[in-house]
Amino acid sequence: MAPFTCLISYILVILRLIVAVTAANPHHSRNALDIVAQLQKELGPLLSGSSRIFGPDNSQWASAMDRWQELAPPQFQGVVQPGTEDDIAKTVQYLDGKSFDFLVVNQAHAITSTVGKFNGIQIDVKSLKDVSISADNRTVKLQAGTYSYEVTAKLWEHGYITTTTTCACAGIVGPALGGGFGLAQGLYGLSSDNVVSMNVVLANGTAITVNENINADLFYGMRGAGHNFGIVTSLELAIHPADWMPTWYYKGYVFTADHLEALFDELNRFHGNGSTPKLMIANFNGYMIIPAISNKTATDAEKLLAPFNQLNGISQNVTAPYPQIIEAFGVGMESSLCEKDKVHITSAAGLQVFNITAQRQMYDLFNQNLALHPEFGNTVIRMEVYGAEGVRNQDPGKSAYPHRDDYILTAFDALLNPGSDLQGVTRNWAEQTRQLWNAGQPQRLPTTYVNYASGSESLSSIYGYEAWRQEKLLDLKKKYDPYNRFGYYNPIPTTNWPGNRIPGPGPVSGSG
Ligand SMILES: Cc1cc2nc3c(=O)[nH]c(=O)nc-3n(C[C@H](O)[C@H](O)[C@H](O)COP(=O)(O)OP(=O)(O)OC[C@H]3O[C@@H](n4cnc5c(N)ncnc54)[C@H](O)[C@@H]3O)c2cc1C
Ligand SMILES: *[C@@H]1O[C@H](CO)[C@@H](O)[C@H](O)[C@H]1NC(C)=O
Ligand SMILES: *[C@@H]1O[C@H](CO)[C@@H](O)[C@H](O)[C@H]1NC(C)=O
Ligand SMILES: *[C@@H]1O[C@H](CO)[C@@H](O)[C@H](O)[C@H]1NC(C)=O
Ligand SMILES: *[C@@H]1O[C@H](CO)[C@@H](O)[C@H](O)[C@H]1NC(C)=O
Ligand SMILES: *[C@@H]1O[C@H](CO)[C@@H](O)[C@H](O)[C@H]1NC(C)=O
Ligand SMILES: *[C@@H]1O[C@H](CO)[C@@H](O)[C@H](O)[C@H]1NC(C)=O
Repeated sequence: MAPFTCLISYILVILRLIVAVTAANPHHSRNALDIVAQLQKELGPLLSGSSRIFGPDNSQWASAMDRWQELAPPQFQGVVQPGTEDDIAKTVQYLDGKSFDFLVVNQAHAITSTVGKFNGIQIDVKSLKDVSISADNRTVKLQAGTYSYEVTAKLWEHGYITTTTTCACAGIVGPALGGGFGLAQGLYGLSSDNVVSMNVVLANGTAITVNENINADLFYGMRGAGHNFGIVTSLELAIHPADWMPTWYYKGYVFTADHLEALFDELNRFHGNGSTPKLMIANFNGYMIIPAISNKTATDAEKLLAPFNQLNGISQNVTAPYPQIIEAFGVGMESSLCEKDKVHITSAAGLQVFNITAQRQMYDLFNQNLALHPEFGNTVIRMEVYGAEGVRNQDPGKSAYPHRDDYILTAFDALLNPGSDLQGVTRNWAEQTRQLWNAGQPQRLPTTYVNYASGSESLSSIYGYEAWRQEKLLDLKKKYDPYNRFGYYNPIPTTNWPGNRIPGPGPVSGSG
């Protein structure tokens, strides 16, 4: 394991050097260096002393270019690192005025290929790290550069949890703008459901507050389709006391393929089409590993898990505090999931129940492909099921997140070596897998979680088929981002919505 990991890193180091050398070649970088010199001269004096502006000739460049998904990376001419939230407003005012394109980068986990169309200035917010709990202990203010694990760990120290992502390495703002799935959602809802207020810089550089009372129309859009409308400099999230459960119980199972039908049948019974026991925090299914963790003590949890114990798998269990339990899940900071600079071929679908016929077809396809190419050994098909209650209890008309009746979040993720000639084959396999998921629920239209989208899905599957949702987003675009400056992350259209729409009345109020 270790030598293999070292070998991969070593190859990446070489690649990065080649990139740096190419970038330093005057024929390639003349333009970029000119642009950076202009930014340093004109924008630099407007910003705080702790801000930075640099280009490809700087030693920081390589780390500012690091990203999780190298399939279709955005192109950058220069990097601005704001030192304060106000620097973001000044930077956007300047860049907008000079007609430079800009893209915010925090943890650089964007999966979608649509960001690959970007060529311009990176606004790198990673140095905005403030995490402050409010005096009344009800909310936490998080700046744009914070990420999941550091926030979870800090809140835990103070006896609180919030709706951070399951995966330790993803940002806070990026996920929350599209919903934000995580272990606490069955109890408290999505990350976006816990946003109390946001500080936002609009496309023209104007800084505004966005919440239920101020710019309420934008508050709707920022929670589900937020990547389309502005830059969040900080946000306030609700926090929840965590002292009732000092340790959490995790149990992982490995089953052989002959158990597939019995297992998914049992999982359907267990999750009951969106009625997963609230205290079963999450259940991740892959074709080899079925882990589960619960709020309950080991003894209580074991009662819930009894049907799985009878299926004769190999199991392992861990009891640990909340910030550490994710390590057992394989989504901690040191997990291979968090490794950057790889090419990922992905697809995703939202489901309600497992269709056992489709699960078997997908498994057989998985096995066939693995037998053909050893390189496919790094492919993972994940099916995440969280507690549903906290998400379903929210009023679906109050925010742009459209998929409250998706209870299973699936993702296909094949990891290829850069330059691999298997991209086309893998793309087909990813598509076939998505089609199997969707064919397994013929009574539903396909849905896609915006933050898991690969960039080829229909906009209606991402943002919702309801005509009223589409109209609302188009109106917000016209009002807040008329020149489509935020048009790179699974962008909504600016005028007409293409494809399917379901007519009908406006938002239905009430609990889901
Ligand atoms: C390994 C991995 C694990 C993941 N785990 C989860 C998970 O557990 N739950 C979940 O819900 N999702 C998860 N995701 C998906 C995740 O929500 C998206 O990838 C998200 O966009 C990541 O945000 P980021 O800051 O990490 O990445 P970035 O690439 O830095 O940001 C993504 C995009 O968000 C926008 N953006 C970022 N910051 C701001 C800002 N301050 N203001 C306005 N726009 C901004 C930009 O358009 C940017 O292109 C995961 C993704 C990966 C790759
Ligand atoms: C908030 O929590 C801190 C401990 O973390 C405590 O000292 C303080 O009294 C609490 N404040 C309120 C208003 O509950
Ligand atoms: C699951 O529940 C939804 C309502 O949320 C219902 O429309 C659907 O038919 C149910 N599916 C199954 C397979 O029971
Ligand atoms: C979590 O489990 C404990 C122990 O079983 C219980 O006392 C507590 O109420 C549960 N918490 C929630 C939020 O359900
Ligand atoms: C949990 O794991 C330990 C070993 O780490 C084992 O002794 C114990 O039996 C396991 N408990 C259950 C309920 O599986
Ligand atoms: C399950 O999937 C199969 C294969 O796609 C499909 O023919 C069947 O209609 C699905 N069953 C249900 C209940 O949706
Ligand atoms: C910036 O855009 C917003 C929304 O379109 C608008 O209300 C505001 O007046 C604009 N500010 C400036 C300085 O143009």
